[in-house]
Amino acid sequence: MQIHKHEVIIVGAGGAGLMAALYASKNGADVAVVSKLYPTRSHTGAAQGGIGAALGNLDEDQPIYHAYDTVKGGDYLADQNAALVLAEGAVEAVIELEHMGLPFDRTPDGKISQRRFGGHTRAFGKELVRRACHAADRTGHMILQTLYQNCIKQNVNFFDEFQVVDLILRDGAAVGVVAVQLATGDFHIFHGKAIIFASGGWGRCWSVTSNAHSMTGDGAAIALRRGIPMEDMEFFQFHPTGIYKMGILITEGVRGEGGVLINNKGERFMERYAPSVKDLASRDVVSRAIYDEIKAGNGIKGKDYVYLDVRPETVNRYFAEEGRKERIDAATVEKKLPDILDFCRTYLGIDPVREPMPIQPTAHYAMGGIPTNVDAEVLADAAGTVVRGLYAAGETACVSVHGANRLGTNSLVDLIVFGRISGIKAAQYVKTAEWQELPADAGKEIQAEFKRIRASKGKTKPYELRKAMQHTMMDNVGVYRTDATISKAIEDLKELRHRFLTDISIDDQGNRFNTDLMEAWELGCLLDLATVTALSARNRTESRGAHSRDDYPQRDDANWMVHTFIHQEGSAQEPSYRIDTSRKVDTSLAEKDERFVAKKRVY
Ligand code: FUM
Repeated sequence: MQIHKHEVIIVGAGGAGLMAALYASKNGADVAVVSKLYPTRSHTGAAQGGIGAALGNLDEDQPIYHAYDTVKGGDYLADQNAALVLAEGAVEAVIELEHMGLPFDRTPDGKISQRRFGGHTRAFGKELVRRACHAADRTGHMILQTLYQNCIKQNVNFFDEFQVVDLILRDGAAVGVVAVQLATGDFHIFHGKAIIFASGGWGRCWSVTSNAHSMTGDGAAIALRRGIPMEDMEFFQFHPTGIYKMGILITEGVRGEGGVLINNKGERFMERYAPSVKDLASRDVVSRAIYDEIKAGNGIKGKDYVYLDVRPETVNRYFAEEGRKERIDAATVEKKLPDILDFCRTYLGIDPVREPMPIQPTAHYAMGGIPTNVDAEVLADAAGTVVRGLYAAGETACVSVHGANRLGTNSLVDLIVFGRISGIKAAQYVKTAEWQELPADAGKEIQAEFKRIRASKGKTKPYELRKAMQHTMMDNVGVYRTDATISKAIEDLKELRHRFLTDISIDDQGNRFNTDLMEAWELGCLLDLATVTALSARNRTESRGAHSRDDYPQRDDANWMVHTFIHQEGSAQEPSYRIDTSRKVDTSLAEKDERFVAKKRVY
C-alpha cells in the first residue's frame, strides 16, 4: 500500500473541508485534502438560497438575534454556547468570503444583498429579517469555487477521487485514514498527525432526498465502526420544498422572495399553522404542515404534493394583502432564482413564472453526526472525552449547533465557521504532537472487507437492498414516526444488513472506477447510519424539532433536554448498540437571559 505523509489529513472537499484546509495551511500545517469527488462537485454546491449573517445591510440585525433564532429553530436542543459561536463567527466569515472574491449579489448601494429565510427574525422574534447573504440561488456553488481557488493559491495538496474507507487509530489517537484510489482500485494510506472529517451527510438513506448520490455518510459510518459514537441521529431534516417525486431542492429563497405554499383548495395554508411568519416558519413546522394538508385530503389532485407558487401575480397579491410595499415581476424572479427556474423547466417542463411548482418534503440534512465540542474536537463519549488528533466539521459533525432542527442558511454558516475552527485547531495540535507509528496491520481489515464484497456470490444486488432501505426509512422514519413504525424499520434494516453481509453479489470485477464495488461498500455505510438513526429515534419518547412522534406528540423538557449518544459495539457481523443520554444541552445563554429559556415554539 502506498503511504502518503502529511500533518493534517482532511477527508472531504466541500465547504467545511476546504475552509479547514485553507486555515490549517495558513497556520503553517502541511495539509492534504482527500476526497471521493473533485472538490467543485462537492454537495455544498447544492446549497442555494444563502448564508446567514447578521450584517444588518437591509434591516437592523445583531448576532445575538441570530443565536436566538438558531436556538429557537433547534427547538431548544442546540447547545447555546455553539449557537453563539456560530452567530458571531458568521459575520466575520461572510465578510472574509467577500474579500476572497465571492460574487455576492448587491444592494443598490453596493452592500451584500440579503433575503428572508425561515425562522430568521430580528429583536428576538419580533419580525422577519433579511439575513441570508446570497449569490442568486447558487450561493453554495459560489462558496465552493471561491474556497477551492483560495486553497489552490495556498498550495494545499489535493487527492481527488480518493475515497476514504477507514480510519486508523493508535492508542486512542487518530493517525491516518485508508483510501481507495478510484482510478486504479489501489489502497493508499494517508498518515497524519491530525485527521479532520468533513465528509458530509447521509440523505441517501431515504427514497426522496435533495442529496446527491455521493451523500452516503462514509466519514460518519467509518467513525462509528471505529468506536466513535453518533450524536442526535434521530434529528434528520426534511426540507419542505423538494420537486415532487425527485426530491431536488427548491430553495427556501423562493419563499424568502415572496413565494407561497398552496393546497388543492387554493388556500395559503401556512396562515393556519404559523399565523405570524406563515411560509417562513422553521422547516420542521412547514414540512409537518404539508404532511397534515395531504393527510386531510388537501394534496393537489388528491396526491401527496402541494404547490409552491412564485408567480408575480400571486406574490404581489399577498404582498398587497400584508401591506408590504415591494412588488416583483418576471424579470426579478429570473434574476434572483435562475437555477430554480432552470430545474423546473428542465425536469418538469414547468415554468415557475407562469405555473406553480409541485413540491413535497425531501430528506435534506443531518442535524446529528460525529460529536464534537466547539473546538471541532471529536468526542469519544457523552462525558466529553476528546479523541486526540481527530476533528470533524460541517454536516458530518454534530457540534450541536442545530439542535433538533436546523434553520435554513445555517448549514453554510456551520461549515464556514466550524470548518475554519477545525483547521486552526488541527494546525495548533500538529505543532506539538509527535508523529505516531502506523499500526502494523493498518488497512488490512478494510482490504479484507472489500475482498469479501468482491467475492460474494449471493442472489441480491446492492441496489435492491438500497431501495428497500430507502423506502422503509421514508415510510417509517420520516417526517412523522411512532414506536411501531420505527420498530418496523429497525427489523427491516436488520434483515437488510444480514443480506448485505451474506447474500450480495456485484457484477464488475475490474479495478478502474469500479462504481459497482464502491456503491456496495457505501450501502454498508448507509445501513449502519440508518440503523443508529432508527434506534435513536425509538429511544427518544417525545416530539422535538424534526423528530415528530405521533405516540409522544409533546416536547418533554423535563426529561429530554439531553443529547443522544449511540455507540456501535461488538463485531460487524453482530453489532450491538448502547445509547447514553447523560449529556445535557448547554443552556449558558438561558442562564444569563431568560429569552433563551426553553418555551413553546410559536411562529
Ligand atoms: O433552501 C435552501 O436554499 C437550502 C439552504 C439550506 O439548506 O440551508
